[in-house]
This record gives sequence, C-alpha cells and structure tokens, in this order.
Amino acid sequence: CRAAHSGVRRLPFATLSQQDRDFFQTLLPGRALTDPEVLEASNVDWLKSVRGSSELLLRPRTTEEVSQILRYCNARGLAVTPQGGNTGLVGGSVPVFDEIILSTALLNQVLSFDVVSGILTCQAGCVLEALSSFVGEQDFVMPLDLGAKGSCHIGGNVATNAGGLRLLRYGPLRGTVLGLEVVLADGTVLDSQAPLRKDNTGYDLKQLFIGSEGTLGVVTAVSILCPRKPSAVNLAFLGCATFPQVLETFQLCRGMLGEVLSAFEFLDSACMKLVQDHLKLTNPIKACEVFVTGSGVLSLLILKRALSPLAESPFYILIETSGSSAAHDEEKLHRFLQEVMTSSLVADGTVATEDSKIKALWALRERITEALTHDGCVYKYDLSLPVQHIYQLVEDMQEHLGTRAKNVVGYGHLGDGNLHLNITSPSHDPALLAAIEPYVYEWTARHHGSISAEHGLGLKKRNYVHFSKPAPALRLMWQIKSLLDPRGILNPYKTLPDRASTD
Ligand code: FAD
Ligand code: MLT
Ligand code: ZN
Repeated sequence: CRAAHSGVRRLPFATLSQQDRDFFQTLLPGRALTDPEVLEASNVDWLKSVRGSSELLLRPRTTEEVSQILRYCNARGLAVTPQGGNTGLVGGSVPVFDEIILSTALLNQVLSFDVVSGILTCQAGCVLEALSSFVGEQDFVMPLDLGAKGSCHIGGNVATNAGGLRLLRYGPLRGTVLGLEVVLADGTVLDSQAPLRKDNTGYDLKQLFIGSEGTLGVVTAVSILCPRKPSAVNLAFLGCATFPQVLETFQLCRGMLGEVLSAFEFLDSACMKLVQDHLKLTNPIKACEVFVTGSGVLSLLILKRALSPLAESPFYILIETSGSSAAHDEEKLHRFLQEVMTSSLVADGTVATEDSKIKALWALRERITEALTHDGCVYKYDLSLPVQHIYQLVEDMQEHLGTRAKNVVGYGHLGDGNLHLNITSPSHDPALLAAIEPYVYEWTARHHGSISAEHGLGLKKRNYVHFSKPAPALRLMWQIKSLLDPRGILNPYKTLPDRASTD
C-alpha cells in the first residue's frame, strides 16, 4: 500500500556529485553507502507507505562526524534526512526525493549511568530495548516503553517526542529528558547535556528539539532520568460490555489504585480479532484463567476455563500496577477488581504477576500495529481527545464509511486521552482516503482535540496542522526553522506546513 507524495515538489537543493561522494567516502570510510540494495530498507518507511530515492546513506559514529557532514551539506545545499530506527508512522524518517540519509545506527554507545540519580547519558542511536536491558541490570527502567522498542532509537524517540505505554506513570519526554547534544544545520554542536534535575538558566533550548522530527537539528546524545525498577508489577486484562463502562472503570481505577497505577490501555473487539486472525495470538479471557463473580459475591477464584468459553467482550482494557510492595499492590488491585466485578462494570478478566504472562498479555495490545499491516492498506490516525469522546470518533467513522472500509478499529492510551483510529482497505483507495480526510481532522478540531497526540506530523500530517495550531503559531514555527536552518536542508517537506499556507 503506497500513498503518493501528492503535490510535493522537489525544492532546488543541490544534487549529489562525484566530488560529494568522494568527500563522504574519505570522511566515513566504509560507512558512506551507495549500493541501491543496501539503501532500499532506509528509503522506505515502516508502514511501506512512503518511498524516497536517496543514493547515499551515511553512518557516522561520532558527534564530530555528524558536525562535519552537516557543515558540508549546508555549504553545498544538499538536503539531509536524519534517520533512527525508521519506525516512525507519519512518513518523517525517509527521504521524499534524493535527500541524503543520515543514520544514527552507529551512534550507539552508553556514555554514563549514575546509579544514585538514575541519570543515563547515551548516544542517540542506542536502541530503546537495549537501554532498557542496560538500566534494568542496575534496577532501573527507561521512562518510556513502546511496541517498536526493539528497533527505535532513543534519538528518534526524542525527535518524535514519543509517548507510549508508560507516559501515564512517568510523564512525557519533555519532563524526563534532562539534556541533549544536538548538531545544528551549519555543523555547530549545541551541548545542553547538563545531567541535572533542575536548571533554570534562561530558555530551555532542548525543548525546541524534542518533537522537532529532525527539522531543526540532529540529536547526537541524550541525558534521561530513569526511575527505579518497580519490584512488584501486576497486569489485569479485563473485558467490558460498553465504552461508558470502560470510562467508569478508568475513573474508579484512578481513585482506587492511585499511585500504583502505571498503565491504562484499551482495545476494541475488532483489534482483538486482528491479532487473533493475523498473528495467531489468543484471547486470554476466552482461553485461560479468569476470575468470575458467583451469585453476586465475587470469588476471585482462578478458574480454568475449559468449559463453556465466555462470549467475547466488545472492549478490553489493560491495567498495569507498578510499585514497591507486592502485598500492598495486590491488595489494592484485589479490592478494585472486587468493586468492578460486583458493580458489573467488568464482565471478565485475567490477572498476571509472572513476567512471561505479563509479556503475553502486553503483546495483545502492543502488536495491534503489526496485525493491522497484515490486514491491507492502513490509514492511521493518532488523536488526542477529551477522554469522554475518545470512542465516539470510531463509531462515527464506522457509520460515515459504511462498507467502504474493510475495518475501522480503535485502541490506544486511554489513560492519556490518546486514540489510535485505524482504517484498513484491501489496497490503496484514494476515494476512501478522501472520505476519511479531512473528515477525521474536522471531527477532532470540533471536539477540541489534537490531530497528532504522539506520532508527530512528518510528511503525512503536516498540511493538516492548522486544525490544531493557529496561524500565528505556525508562522512562529517557520521563523524558528529559518533561524536554525536558513537553507532548509534538514528534513525538508516534513513537519512544517507548506509555507504559502501560513503567509
Ligand atoms: P525514525 O522513525 O527513524 O524517525 C522519526 C523522526 O525522527 C523522523 O522525522 C526523523 O528524521 C527524526 N529523527 C530520528 N532520529 C533523529 C535524531 N537523532 N535527530 C534528529 N531527528 C531524528 N510512537 C509513540 O509515540 N508511541 C507508541 O506507543 C508507539 N508505538 C509504536 C509501535 C510500533 C510497532 C511502531 C512501528 C511504531 C510505534 N511508534 C510509537 C512510532 C515510532 O516508533 C516512534 O515515533 C519512535 O519514537 C521513532 O523512533 P525511530 O528511532 O524509529 O525514529
Ligand atoms: C501504539 O500505541 O500501539 C502505537 O502508537 C502504534 C500505533 O498507533 O499503531
Ligand atoms: Zn501509541
């Protein structure tokens, strides 16, 4: 499924000459790659929806190399696309035309870790999962977690201001990132790495680069605050009959679980069907242990459900608790489960405390993205909405599209008011797309939401940003871009809307 870069025209950047190739081969021996087969994976995004035609992939190992690359490109007027793990979902991580790809894959060293403060400093190309293992060995956790952890880089996470599954507990990267090292378009190295909790020395410049999607500078190193690893983790996977019940369960859960609540995620039954059909995962409520209410009194008996499997639920929620006392957390969770079961907010559920079962339950939520790619062409929307309206959009879209769509599904970070609305069709369908957009953005604006909660704008969403940001804000964004990257070489065609639309 491939969407065209409709209406995007190549800007008058220089084209790569033999002299340029020679310069990069000398600067990065064996790490300036030109083989089209090697470049293929870096020219196409994770969703396989955007394809560029870059002829050069650079793999620097040091900040100094990044600086030299950008100084040269800026002087020559060569455009550059910074790339981390290439897991971005808005077409921001791949070139649109022949931009040079600057990969952070070899900037992958941990620089320091302070076990007293929990501050980790590392190069931007460290893979999130590798960092999780590294700090995990010292009894800490990374303050963010996402389904793409095995491939995405911490620099890419910062550049997209990624949210993910732990935001509810640890907050956004804008709070946990303490410092950044960034190379500007002209090669200047901006070191704001101060590994300090507090630093009120004027403008907080690092915030400009968090979420800037490679358009203002290349992040080369990150200092980030890691929380201590919780010693007790529980996961409840529950089924609800209606969305209002999901919302009531959320409200109750915040009150009763309080400080130990670390995630509240949801998926609808269509998502469950996708992970079952395409990835052969099993619905844990139907297939394994469940707790049930018996004649009005809750018996938290764990039953083997070999007999009479329960009906599927229209909605599922994942509630994670993380704390420092297993007995305390379990007691809280137990009381909460009693309440939701006796009040019939929740129909069925299962609870996990062992690592392997927790992972298996999380897979049902984390692998929806992957399951969708097996369902056909995916139209992906990542919206922030007042939580009470979050599922109404899915229902309205289902009605609006009728049989034109193959599937219209909803899942997301309910605890953060973040809906992932995904629509599939057997192949790329311009008429379907025209029915979805701008309808989805108009709907979101009408309900005072944001058209991008956590994925960013990239290539795909940038010209819809006016639904969420007023014209003066967009003009200021362009002014900042012009100040930091006057020749516009950094990730052109991304994030900022067409200039004419903001004049
Ligand atoms: P890339 O995809 O390589 O790049 C993303 C953007 O950042 C591009 O614009 C690129 O130019 C820029 N960039 C990359 N590295 C740098 C750098 N060092 N300096 C400057 N700019 C840079 N996102 C969420 O927010 N929450 C989720 O829960 C989530 N789950 C996901 C699950 C799956 C299965 C997948 C495939 C994606 C998911 N994503 C999620 C989206 C994506 O993983 C994140 O946006 C991630 O942060 C991107 O990191 P990356 O290293 O792959 O960056
Ligand atoms: C998620 O929460 O699963 C991710 O943001 C990816 C997606 O939206 O599919
Ligand atoms: Zn998400």
